[in-house]
Amino acid sequence: MCGIVGYIGGQQAAPLLLEGLTRLEHRGYDSAGLAVLGPSGVRVAKQAGRVRDLGDGLPKRFTGKIGIGHTRWATHGPATDANAHPHTDESGRVAVVHNGIIDNAAALRLELADAGVELVSDTDTEVLAHLVARSTADTLEARTAEALARVEGTYGIAVTHADFPDRIVVARNGSPLIIGVGKNEMHVASDLAALVRYTTTVAHLADGEMATVTADGFSTYLVRTIDGAGHVGLAATDRRASEVEIDPSSYDAGEHDSFMHKEMLEQPARAEAVLRGRLDEKFGTGHLGGLNLDARELRAIKRVKILGCGSAYYVGQMGAALIEELARIPADAEAASEFRYRNPIIEPDTLYVAVSQSGETIDTLLAVQEIQRKGGFVIGLVNVVGSAIAREVDGGIYLHAGPEVAVASTKALTNMFLAFAMLAVQLGRVRDLSISDGRRLIAGLNAIPGQVAEVLGREEELAEVARELAGAENLFFVGRVRGFPVAREGAQKFKEISYRHAEAYQTSELKHGPLALISPEVPTVAIVPDDELVERNVAALHEIAARGGPLTVVTHAGVDLGDLERTARRIDVPRSERELDPILLTIPLQVLAYHAALSLGHDIDKPRNLAKSVTVE
Ligand code: G6P
Repeated sequence: MCGIVGYIGGQQAAPLLLEGLTRLEHRGYDSAGLAVLGPSGVRVAKQAGRVRDLGDGLPKRFTGKIGIGHTRWATHGPATDANAHPHTDESGRVAVVHNGIIDNAAALRLELADAGVELVSDTDTEVLAHLVARSTADTLEARTAEALARVEGTYGIAVTHADFPDRIVVARNGSPLIIGVGKNEMHVASDLAALVRYTTTVAHLADGEMATVTADGFSTYLVRTIDGAGHVGLAATDRRASEVEIDPSSYDAGEHDSFMHKEMLEQPARAEAVLRGRLDEKFGTGHLGGLNLDARELRAIKRVKILGCGSAYYVGQMGAALIEELARIPADAEAASEFRYRNPIIEPDTLYVAVSQSGETIDTLLAVQEIQRKGGFVIGLVNVVGSAIAREVDGGIYLHAGPEVAVASTKALTNMFLAFAMLAVQLGRVRDLSISDGRRLIAGLNAIPGQVAEVLGREEELAEVARELAGAENLFFVGRVRGFPVAREGAQKFKEISYRHAEAYQTSELKHGPLALISPEVPTVAIVPDDELVERNVAALHEIAARGGPLTVVTHAGVDLGDLERTARRIDVPRSERELDPILLTIPLQVLAYHAALSLGHDIDKPRNLAKSVTVE
């Protein structure tokens, strides 16, 4: 969601912080700010808008070798200069940046106001600055810990204080906080993306942990409450920094105009990475060691319940269909954001699957915790290694998609599908899926990376279609059964970056309502794989054509569209095994969304009102 950076060392902090914030902008980009601690105390610059606006407006002499910065995605209060971080106390000596949500902020704000504090923003974070400032403890660590002891909720924070000009104090509870070790300098960030250009020696704080960061090192500790008056003690932990294996260039868009474009084209290579070592050709099965389930346990599973948000939810629906079809186990997907709120029944013989690129999405994380609280077994399909969901689940499949920066998920989504396919084959093979069917599917999976490359190779042709679709204010994306989650994902991608109203519908349901909206101004993108429903699908397309609705049909070569061939535009994707078709049908929809947004001149990686990882409910 929001992004945090910090620097302490021998260089001027402001340019480094700005650079770090630029790297974090995908996490939130409605406002940004910096606080540096220099000879004349704390100086703050913050404003609504992008990081580059902040940089452009920065005073020339914004000096200081300690600083913290933040890029925001508004939750408490609109995107205004006052609500941008860092927040300070009344004396201007304390500066705080914060990710997460303080649940009891309203009560704390009232309490502070009663005590005569003048609050200048609408944010929950501001209370932290005042609480730190009002603590009378001896050290900045104890003051911060006392302030944190008063708050309920989630946070990653960084604090500077003019009275303690040699340190940054950081803390984590539910929102990532990473310390990067340099040479006589140290960095702080909420995301590796901001650090890897400076150092790959990093330490990840655990939940509940705090750290003091000085120019020459860091120390970590846990907070204990030692009396009823809110006093705290600090117990040292021995967290060490270690090397992360990451190619810093994976956080650069390189020659591409956007990360989405780069990440889309990376899909063949990343798809190979998720499959590598996990396909057992001899026995026609998947080989997913991280599940922590042996064959007997896999057999005991009676139901599969998949939870995710946004694109992860739609790919979860594709996954549920794969599992039902290949393993004949009842399976369904649900939006993780809804799950917890209906007091869900957690069954001992159900396999729960949490799907998340970031591993941080709070709705998905809370669903995992709800399942575990009730004794359920949950695995994760997660991209970010060591992320919150990855750490909390009982087993899982890492997606190996590499860092994904664009808000619109492409390569992570493809790898989620492939992970589901391997899981479905493995579940199927301990049941009734035959070895020959298993081998057929493994061969199909092996071919996918090349077939994805084939679709991506037709970008120019797809761009032309996209430019035309971008001219419509309203569009339908329709599909049936396997094709319906494809339509949902296609519509989601289209709307989130082109801002056109794209609605997904089951092709079969059109006649029960939405057909009323079909007209020459409302194009439909129809997903029509060559499967057992192809004739029915084509029949429904005639109903659209009869109302003058323009059609783009994503299908397979050889599918006969009859007299629609004259008017409909077709996009043929390579044939896979039927069960695996959804992912190849999805790829052209990514390209359509991308080129539609490009032709409309939108900021593709930072669509309005959205953020990459949504760490608030
Ligand atoms: C946000 C993003 C979506 C993403 C969803 C789930 O809403 O805008 O693109 O699909 O979060 O994210 P996750 O990291 O859990 O996969």
